[in-house]
Amino acid sequence: MAIGVLFGAVIPEVWETLVAYLSINPSLPSHSSVGAYSPPLGLRTVRERAASYMRARDGVPAAADDVCVGAGASDVIKSVLTVLAGEVDGKMPAVMIPIPQYPLFSGALAELGIKPAEYYLDEANNWALSPEELERSWLEASQTHAVRALVVINPGNPTGQVLDRKNIEEIIKFAYDHHLFILADEVYQENIVSKPFYSFKKVMHEMGAPYSSMELASFLTCSKGWAAECGLRSGYVELLRLQPRVKAAFVAGRGVMQCPTVLGQCVLDCVMKPPTLGEPSYPQFSRELAEVRRTLAERTKTAYRTFNSIPGYSCNPIDGAMFAFPRIELPARAQAVAHEKNMTPDEFYCYRLLEETGVCVVPGTGFGQIPDTFHFRTTILHPREEFQHMMDSIRNFHHKFLQEYA
Ligand SMILES: Cc1ncc(COP(=O)(O)O)c(C=O)c1O
Repeated sequence: MAIGVLFGAVIPEVWETLVAYLSINPSLPSHSSVGAYSPPLGLRTVRERAASYMRARDGVPAAADDVCVGAGASDVIKSVLTVLAGEVDGKMPAVMIPIPQYPLFSGALAELGIKPAEYYLDEANNWALSPEELERSWLEASQTHAVRALVVINPGNPTGQVLDRKNIEEIIKFAYDHHLFILADEVYQENIVSKPFYSFKKVMHEMGAPYSSMELASFLTCSKGWAAECGLRSGYVELLRLQPRVKAAFVAGRGVMQCPTVLGQCVLDCVMKPPTLGEPSYPQFSRELAEVRRTLAERTKTAYRTFNSIPGYSCNPIDGAMFAFPRIELPARAQAVAHEKNMTPDEFYCYRLLEETGVCVVPGTGFGQIPDTFHFRTTILHPREEFQHMMDSIRNFHHKFLQEYA
């Protein structure tokens, strides 16, 4: 589908973008080739395009100078975390991350020697962030470390929640009170089925002083959304209100990495400005987009309904992203067998599921979960029949698993 969208429907615009870059674009490398380096923060026109996308999204000013393009969101997330790696007043740094969490954050922090200060998402409250839990996590980590930043993933991976505005305001207030830099991973903002999306930037702006002058890093990528061109590796960070010396350190760090692929940047440019009414690709693009959205909405409902109909399963509504993260009750005997095999109970369950049905899901252990709770993550983007087959296989497997171990 993704390739279909970009190289099918949008091909005239991809072509126009490339031609524009190769012929008249003043920000292009001197010999006008996508095979040449671009400036390290990305081509000026692509950064402008990202800024205009955000202006249209939020109704809030956005500037190309605040945008840094990278080889996917992962690349720029890691660069931003790198800036936080130093000691503060003799204390090692810590960064608050959600649990469950997309493991890019725990992995990058481990590599950088930054302590992850974990806070649990509130499963009983549709995976919201509870201010009390944020406070608990902050207090615990700040006994020994300098807590410097707070990571929020909205919409959530693996949890699929979309935060409501009130919760975002609570998070911003918490970050303000504790002098924390917010890293808003908003890569799934175009993958939402049932709720409005509020960017942290917009909410901060609308809350007014003092929150509207807080520092912020927010991330977007062409790996997700309707394009889902994850192999082309392009994404960006918008960095707001950084102190000049911090921004300079960030820019210097990016400079030594040369630049993200210029071809990827061209694709990001297209994703930031999809075909509009009157353009040649618009009819096909809008048809394909509607189908992508319809399919996602259908899958979220089916996954939610099916998982909640299996005894011992519970699943929160899936508002966005592309995953379900159901919770499973596992019998004590199955847990004991798992431990004998040096596996966590959810790993054992997922392994048996794979062996017996061919269905491959990721154990909750990979994302973190409250001790003694068990989950798995599955994507929900399979073709309809395959998806139904997967749901039926899981249901039948669970039934047999319970007969064996209950
Ligand atoms: C929450 C989240 N952030 C960041 C990324 C990384 O995206 P990219 O492919 O742009 O590096 C992913 C990829 O799955 C993700 O789920």
